[in-house]
Amino acid sequence: MNQVLKTIQERSSIRSYKDIPLTQEELDLLKNAVLAAPTARNLQGLRYYFITDRSILKQIDQRVMHHAGDEMRARMKERGSESFFYDAPLGVIITAGEQRWPGEDAGIAVGILSIAAQSMGLGSVILGIPGMAFQEDDPENCGKLLGFAEGEKFRIAIAIGHPATEKEPHEKNFDLIKEF
Ligand SMILES: Cc1cc2nc3c(=O)[nH]c(=O)nc-3n(C[C@H](O)[C@H](O)[C@H](O)COP(=O)(O)O)c2cc1C
Repeated sequence: MNQVLKTIQERSSIRSYKDIPLTQEELDLLKNAVLAAPTARNLQGLRYYFITDRSILKQIDQRVMHHAGDEMRARMKERGSESFFYDAPLGVIITAGEQRWPGEDAGIAVGILSIAAQSMGLGSVILGIPGMAFQEDDPENCGKLLGFAEGEKFRIAIAIGHPATEKEPHEKNFDLIKEF
């Protein structure tokens, strides 16, 4: 198996991180990787918010918690974290306006980031929940905090850092593949 295929197989969601900041070199490698992601018609409509400032991640957490129901609060308690970014030293939020295929573009970009992180010996977890902090019908949503432009929407996020835990990759189900 080549190294890229091995990295894909080894990735799993990490929900506990060491309190070690990423180096500038690591941040630059991740930025370089995500900017290599393809976008439909090369429109490059995605925006990538690289957030290492814990106080900003905390404000996003607080807004998610404002909307969270009992079930979500219980799940977070079970996972042993009060942060939807699991106290990772880096949270990346990916946004897009209403261009063609914004969700697809964002999904590809976040997938590339997760594999790039894995290849660098870092862990990651892809995050949809922080989107609750950016609900358009919430006048106190966090769009202003990050300076979103008109029409810019949260699409997906990812937490990245040095893993403080190990998790086996999920079990594969080959029945999901149909061959003709
Ligand atoms: C679109 C998407 C959104 C996700 N959102 C969250 C999230 O908000 N919080 C979380 O802890 N995990 C989240 N995950 C991680 C999944 O729970 C995880 O990928 C899945 O359980 C499979 O485990 P694995 O990543 O270890 O293979 C998300 C994954 C995807 C692909």
